[in-house]
Amino acid sequence: MRRFRRLRANPAMRRMVCETRLNAADFIYPIFVAEGNNIMKPVDSMPTVYQYSIDDLEQILPQIADSGISGLLIFGIPEKKDELATEAYNDKGVTQQAIRYIKEHYPDLLIIADVCLCEYTSHGHCGVVKGDKILNDSTLPLLCKMAVSLAKAGADIIAPSDMMDGRVAAIRAALDENALTDIPIMSYSAKFASGYYSPFRDAAESAPCFGDRKSYQMDPCNGREALREIEDDIEEGADMVMVKPALCYLDILRAARDRYDLPIAAYNVSGEFSMVKAAAQLGWIDEKRIVLENLTAIKRAGADIIITYHALDAAKWIKEDN
Ligand code: PBG
Ligand code: ZN
Repeated sequence: MRRFRRLRANPAMRRMVCETRLNAADFIYPIFVAEGNNIMKPVDSMPTVYQYSIDDLEQILPQIADSGISGLLIFGIPEKKDELATEAYNDKGVTQQAIRYIKEHYPDLLIIADVCLCEYTSHGHCGVVKGDKILNDSTLPLLCKMAVSLAKAGADIIAPSDMMDGRVAAIRAALDENALTDIPIMSYSAKFASGYYSPFRDAAESAPCFGDRKSYQMDPCNGREALREIEDDIEEGADMVMVKPALCYLDILRAARDRYDLPIAAYNVSGEFSMVKAAAQLGWIDEKRIVLENLTAIKRAGADIIITYHALDAAKWIKEDN
């Protein structure tokens, strides 16, 4: 008889044969920065998540810096929104100012800047709108301006999440023309049109006011197409690619890991987070166990980098257990 249980006999034995170890450095923590003063506004659909104004960022930045995680993903929420997302590429916009503040006070934290127009447009779509259409090619120059502006403000990594075709090549060229050749691109390559984003849209105040995002984000039915999206972004010059959401798309992560050798990120999105939080608040699950099991699954499937709202808790729990 083959006795698998020999290697499960005690904690020391199990620790030695453990195949997947979570590390605080695996994690990126998303933050929401709102324009204004004295804001620390809870996001109702995401327990423990807040919007902060820049003057209140000290409520969260020290914890992030002390946690040992790799960095943060920044989303700005401007006061003024318009058709062309002007605030997205205003060098003095809220996101640019927040990046400057964080870089100055926490130079060791990696800042990943999300590049997309939806938090900045009056209609809430990720691109330029004409009638009921979201225009691809007219959106690209705006994304380029936004990426350059955020990189000049001090972002270490540019992460386009809009899902327009050709944006990685366009952004790469724009960064290079502006002497930002050393700024890497982490592309949201396989981003699905998912019901799991709805708490985020409360947090970022970015829900589309008509229609949905299905004409640009991917159909959850399509796994092979996700690999074509990833391949295309690599050819266009992405330094890292992303699969999003994470938990329902572990098959895509695994397939991408087997096929490509660059770093792969997975975004454990807002809905995935809030479902765990809600069940934990009801006492129906053991939050620590569930969170670490979810994050382990994402890593085991092939993610090198995990963007998650659980990052600070998970980093603390991993430390406790070691
Ligand atoms: C913006 C963007 C979204 C998320 C990250 N960047 C929302 C969307 O596409 O509507 C989702 C993140 C989450 O749900 O945690 N394009
Ligand atoms: Zn968007």
